[in-house]
Amino acid sequence: MLAVSSLATATSGTYSSRVEIRLTAPNRRLGVLISGRGSNLQAILKAIQVGDLDASVALVVSNREDAMGLVHARTAGVKGEYLNSRDYANRDDYDAAIASLLRARSVGLVCLAGFMRLVRRPLLEAFPNRILNIHPSLLPAFPGLDAQGQALEHGAKVSGATVHLVDAGLDAGPIVAQSAVPVFDTDTVDTLSARILVEEHRLYPQVIGRLLDGTCRLQGRRVICDPPASASARRLPADN
Ligand code: GRF
Repeated sequence: MLAVSSLATATSGTYSSRVEIRLTAPNRRLGVLISGRGSNLQAILKAIQVGDLDASVALVVSNREDAMGLVHARTAGVKGEYLNSRDYANRDDYDAAIASLLRARSVGLVCLAGFMRLVRRPLLEAFPNRILNIHPSLLPAFPGLDAQGQALEHGAKVSGATVHLVDAGLDAGPIVAQSAVPVFDTDTVDTLSARILVEEHRLYPQVIGRLLDGTCRLQGRRVICDPPASASARRLPADN
């Protein structure tokens, strides 16, 4: 297996199974990109606060001025910036501006948390394989908007949350972790969304921690992570 550190995969969206990439970040400073409510941001901040996640949030960037997540960031003493896309000539320039804000705060890992824009080349190149997203479905099912509504409409019996690496596609990058929930006949978009959100808030900080620990690698499209230390400790007595 060839070990390379490359940005080709994230920007092109093509993955070779002959290439293995160790997923790491140069530091534990997070940049969180949001567009709205910011409950996943809050879950990340909470996990840091209670000691479940060894990281800090160095910067929150929103493309919406009225995003509640900006209020949550500032309340937690985290720098929150609003960047208006209309101030930039095109989408690439806008993403280049986000990348320089993140770099100026020495961000090591970028977490999209309800950021309602496709990520463009300047940002992908600045953080190759170091941008995560959380999506409220079991990808590759139901990418894009209203994933919970799509699942209900389709008649899915199981849905859930996915954390994936971000590439140039829509919710298309390699899957890092997923958590499933049942879909009940009585569900509405609201009840299903609430059930999935509980899993999102649990899963996202956990996956961020694993990435920061450098325990995951990319083989083709597959993200393979070492078992958590506690899991290998649990296995030891049976192995002996
Ligand atoms: C979440 O459901 C997330 O999966 C999706 O957008 C929503 C954002 O919610 N990408 P919040 O802003 O984190 O509360």
